[in-house]
Amino acid sequence: VSVLTVNLADNSYDILIGCGVMSSIGSHCVALGLSSRVAVITNPTVNALYGEVVRNSLAGAGYTVSVIEIPDGEVYKNAETLANVYDALIEAGLDRKSFIVALGGGVVGDLAGFAAATYLRGIPFVQVPTTLLAQVDSSVGGKTAIDHPRGKNLIGAFYQPRFVLIDVDSLATLPEREYRAGMAEVIKYGVAIDLIFFEYLEQHVDAIMAMDRECLETLIRRCCQLKAQVVELDEKESGLRAVLNYGHTLGHAFEMLAGYSELVHGEAVAIGMVLAARISVARGHCDAADIKRVSALICRFGLTTQAPIVDRQRLLSAILTDKKSADGAISFICNSGIGNFAIELLLPEELLTLSGLEVCS
Ligand SMILES: NC(=O)c1ccc[n+]([C@@H]2O[C@H](COP(=O)([O-])OP(=O)(O)OC[C@H]3O[C@@H](n4cnc5c(N)ncnc54)[C@H](O)[C@@H]3O)[C@@H](O)[C@H]2O)c1
Ligand SMILES: [Zn+2]
Repeated sequence: VSVLTVNLADNSYDILIGCGVMSSIGSHCVALGLSSRVAVITNPTVNALYGEVVRNSLAGAGYTVSVIEIPDGEVYKNAETLANVYDALIEAGLDRKSFIVALGGGVVGDLAGFAAATYLRGIPFVQVPTTLLAQVDSSVGGKTAIDHPRGKNLIGAFYQPRFVLIDVDSLATLPEREYRAGMAEVIKYGVAIDLIFFEYLEQHVDAIMAMDRECLETLIRRCCQLKAQVVELDEKESGLRAVLNYGHTLGHAFEMLAGYSELVHGEAVAIGMVLAARISVARGHCDAADIKRVSALICRFGLTTQAPIVDRQRLLSAILTDKKSADGAISFICNSGIGNFAIELLLPEELLTLSGLEVCS
């Protein structure tokens, strides 16, 4: 097992990464002094695959375990599901000494994390991410949230887990589409903050596509390290942390317009990154060869770089909804060459013009 620490004073925690580590969750909880009762929040898909291992490990370590299933899918990351989870937590008798284990992808992690942040004004929680996206991004950093009909992640809290347990082997059962989509977030770290890592990805496409375990472990560790560094400098996103939104401004807009099933998050981010690279060229932060290199890598992982053609007005309003603030310009993350970033204040209209995006009206 490799261990990384996220240093956040009182909120510091470890990320444990390894193959086959899920069955050790019970002893890690004991080692941290987590006591008594635990609710494992998961969905039917993940529960069928990994529920038993986790349950047995926790029970074997002396915990009273309840399992709470939420339906599978982004559309259920909402207030109604959350209300059902609160009911189940009360029903299971969880008190302030109890804790929550989030077992699943980013949807489960975000919702279970928010439940933990708010139930009894906050009880401890543990992340056991089972998708590539969750392992390299959403399980680290303490952003928890549910969606609102008016936009994604509008209701949430910064709330750090007690530890993150990443079992690389759990990726073996992930649908190929989800695996590829997760690669978009991996590429994001390379383009926006780490050239050496970008080159590593270019050199290891075949091994990554073949899910070589050693390679995966290296890749996940590097992403977590980069994310931890950014979060350590800016836990509550007052500035620097926004770099992790590279590719997300336009990506989110397309994700909303296409409907969550047509484009999954990572697929939309891949498109958003290519557009961000084009805007970066237009603003003089990199040259055309960099766009080519970024799109080439995205394509090699089987992701599309082609934006769907959508209505201009709907796209503009989607960009604004996502911005979480009402006035004027957007802080847009550009890539400066590959491996560095620059922030530009741009109007939604300018994003369309500078990216050369084809829209209809
Ligand atoms: N908190 C953050 O910082 C942050 C960052 C990025 C994304 N997110 C959020 O993460 C969510 C997306 O997460 P996601 O991409 O993990 O999607 P997801 O949680 O919907 O999981 C994708 C699918 O894979 C299935 N699955 C999960 N693990 C599996 C496994 N090991 N084997 C087989 N199937 C498995 C799930 O049941 C689901 O159907 C979005 O809601 C997004 O807003 C949060
Ligand atoms: Zn993302």
